[in-house]
Amino acid sequence: MRISVFGLGYVGSISAACLARAGHDVWGVDINPEKVAMLNAGVSPVMEPGLADLIAEMRAAGRIRGTCSSAEAVAATDVALLCVGTPGQPNGSPDFGALTRVAEDIGRAIGAREQPYTVVIRSTVLPGTTERVVGAALAKTAQPNGHPPTALAVSPEFLREGTALDDFKHPALTLIGCDDPATAERVRSLFDGVEAPVVHTSLRAAEMVKYSCNTFHALKICFANEIASVCEALGTDGQEVMRIFRLDEKLNVSAAYLRPGFAFGGSCLPKDVRALVKAAHVADVDVPLLSAVMASNSTRVLRGLADVLATGHRRVGVVGLAFKPGTDDLRESPCVELVKQLIAEGRDVRILDELVSRGRLVGANRRYIETELPHFSTLLCDDLPQLIEHAQVLVIVHDGAAGAAAIAAARPEQVVIDLTQNVKRIERAPLEPRARAAASLRAKPVELTS
Ligand SMILES: NC(=O)c1ccc[n+]([C@@H]2O[C@H](COP(=O)([O-])OP(=O)(O)OC[C@H]3O[C@@H](n4cnc5c(N)ncnc54)[C@H](O)[C@@H]3O)[C@@H](O)[C@H]2O)c1
Repeated sequence: MRISVFGLGYVGSISAACLARAGHDVWGVDINPEKVAMLNAGVSPVMEPGLADLIAEMRAAGRIRGTCSSAEAVAATDVALLCVGTPGQPNGSPDFGALTRVAEDIGRAIGAREQPYTVVIRSTVLPGTTERVVGAALAKTAQPNGHPPTALAVSPEFLREGTALDDFKHPALTLIGCDDPATAERVRSLFDGVEAPVVHTSLRAAEMVKYSCNTFHALKICFANEIASVCEALGTDGQEVMRIFRLDEKLNVSAAYLRPGFAFGGSCLPKDVRALVKAAHVADVDVPLLSAVMASNSTRVLRGLADVLATGHRRVGVVGLAFKPGTDDLRESPCVELVKQLIAEGRDVRILDELVSRGRLVGANRRYIETELPHFSTLLCDDLPQLIEHAQVLVIVHDGAAGAAAIAAARPEQVVIDLTQNVKRIERAPLEPRARAAASLRAKPVELTS
């Protein structure tokens, strides 16, 4: 393919060289004439192991060249990869100025083309930016010329400086965000030589995946560092503790606990988080990340509460009371907390939780609920029809069979709020089964290959 790479920084220089290595014909574009001159001299504009040799080789083979002229690059290519910087501003918001200027330049240049043009955003951008910033800038400058169609896609870069050439060839995945399957297929062919599963999703999901990844990486680093600080204060070795921690690939280094849903609870997690934070504070160790965990958890309950109150309805049916499905353990259940708050707000609440209804609560479990929600047994329904009969709003806090059955049985006029799926409010679709309506509200990534 004939590809323009806009921005000859780390991402652009590496992408340009690797795409040329894969056999594509590449134009590197930058406003900085020094970088363009370096590329044309076969010299790498950035320091990266292996890149100098690759650029020299690709330049000698005539597969890569540089220009400061967007018009020249757009005229000579069919696809543009936007790799310009999106630096943070003092208030934290990213600066999309360079991206806007590039898109405006491309818009002006595509007016002179007869063939359609594909613009792929490789820079890291917040959800909505491709349409609102890049799409709008293209439309603004290209429209008067009666330009040929422009297709938009996002394909975030996952490389790390220092190991970038290898990361380009072997990323964890090739992500293509695009609302048009034909464009997605064209973008996929850019990365034919890349050895990774290709995942196709919406523009916004692809934009957000990149931020989620980077934030999670940052979170992991801070978690390991804070744990190590507590280890030191408590007389143990943080390296050894985290080495063993990483050996658990079932619950620790895995997909476990990474599905958005309702808050955590139970007899272990809350008490142990509090105990560790308290021990750190007693030892004068600052653990801002660990200290924020319980507060973050509470926001899930408050958000669920706000969603229910926002419906304005009084009669609420809650599916689930124990801290998770499959148990009658009510200790520190976020469902109990939600019910308490709903009652405090004057709502008439009924609950369906088969195991709690059938079980005989004893010991600490019984003491807990007698303190927190002494009249809970008067709120329990015997079966789903009883709950449905009562509720104007159905709140699902347990996933699995009970939640699915309640969603399927809800009447058209009932509001369903599924907190297990992070779905604020399931709008009724009169001709479809309700469960399908709930599913349609969620993003549906499609695996092209794996
Ligand atoms: N550096 C990384 O490791 C990395 C990894 C993944 C994603 N990203 C993301 O990729 C994007 C680029 O990062 P980078 O580190 O390569 O940035 P960079 O600052 O190294 O390079 C940006 C380049 O864009 C050029 N530029 C600015 N305006 C231009 C214009 N109007 N036309 C043409 N060129 C223009 C600049 O001159 C510069 O050479 C950012 O969004 C970044 O967040 C970076």
